[in-house]
Amino acid sequence: MRKGFLAASLAATMGLSLLVGCGTSSEPAAAAPAAPEATAEAAPAASKPANSKLVVGFAQIGQESGWRDGETNDIQWYAAQHTDEIDLVFADAQQKQENQIKAIRNFIDMGVDVIAFPPVVETGWEAVLTECKEAGIPVILVDRGVDESCADLYATQISSDFIWEGAQAADIVGDLLGGKGNVVELEGTVGASAANERKEGFDKELADKYPDIKIIESQTGDFTRALGKEVMESFLKSHDDINAVFAHNDDMALGAIEAIKEAGKKPGEDIIVVGCDGVKGAFEAMVAGEMNGTVECNPCLAKQIFETAAKLKAGETVDKWIVSNDGVFRQEDAEAELPNRTY
Ligand code: AHR
Repeated sequence: MRKGFLAASLAATMGLSLLVGCGTSSEPAAAAPAAPEATAEAAPAASKPANSKLVVGFAQIGQESGWRDGETNDIQWYAAQHTDEIDLVFADAQQKQENQIKAIRNFIDMGVDVIAFPPVVETGWEAVLTECKEAGIPVILVDRGVDESCADLYATQISSDFIWEGAQAADIVGDLLGGKGNVVELEGTVGASAANERKEGFDKELADKYPDIKIIESQTGDFTRALGKEVMESFLKSHDDINAVFAHNDDMALGAIEAIKEAGKKPGEDIIVVGCDGVKGAFEAMVAGEMNGTVECNPCLAKQIFETAAKLKAGETVDKWIVSNDGVFRQEDAEAELPNRTY
């Protein structure tokens, strides 16, 4: 077994009674647990020969956003509710692709039944996915995709349609600007499918349907609130004619709102603010009149992940892309929808 990597066994999920899953409560989800110790060794209890349960290795990206914490909570909560049938081996890669790759190799060494992970970026997965295939371990891509060259190396992808999400955001912006104005874009993590495809959908929809709207700046805010704020501050310093901001996630939109207020302008009125994800904070900002819309991206994927993993363990084939059914919410929908938000 490879030594010294960050795999936390099921034991780490057992003490998490504060966690709530997406479908279970309107209470706020508890904060994601702290990242496991980088030196923690995978527990032998989860290894294949001694375990007839479904053993799933999940290599989470990290904790960059409220949305990501919601996904982690849902997965850990679901596993904790099904301990008779499921062993979850959870690793937190702390935003690094190399850590995700190490975690996956650790899962292979442990002989888990199925490996699931959200690829932090699209490229660079050929070698490790080939190792999974050679070990006979099916892989589920969760919430993000990999590039075409790896199409034969994973079993299925469970995720939203990011191109659709970007196009929906463009329609909100285009509509609220009356088809004319200047937009800035806060992009997600460089190289992530969630960033590449939201940009593709947003930029194309604007160009096709709203030719008098210009994207005057577009830069990464790495899906974090802090960087979203920082980049928006620099946009506001360089341009006094910004009419709207599209943030590739709600955390960056919330950071942008802070920057707009500090610049003496009214978010939601002077500058239209639209995000993606549908986190509770975005709904609160919409109720406060400071945000204009969000395109949902469902992080509540645990049930689908584990049910799909069970099918793959049983040798069944599943759809190559299991697409989430997401909603689009505008300011006027926010008050009624807020109590329903679970993340
Ligand atoms: O891959 C999904 C994206 O990743 C979410 O929009 C974002 O908030 C997260 O960090």
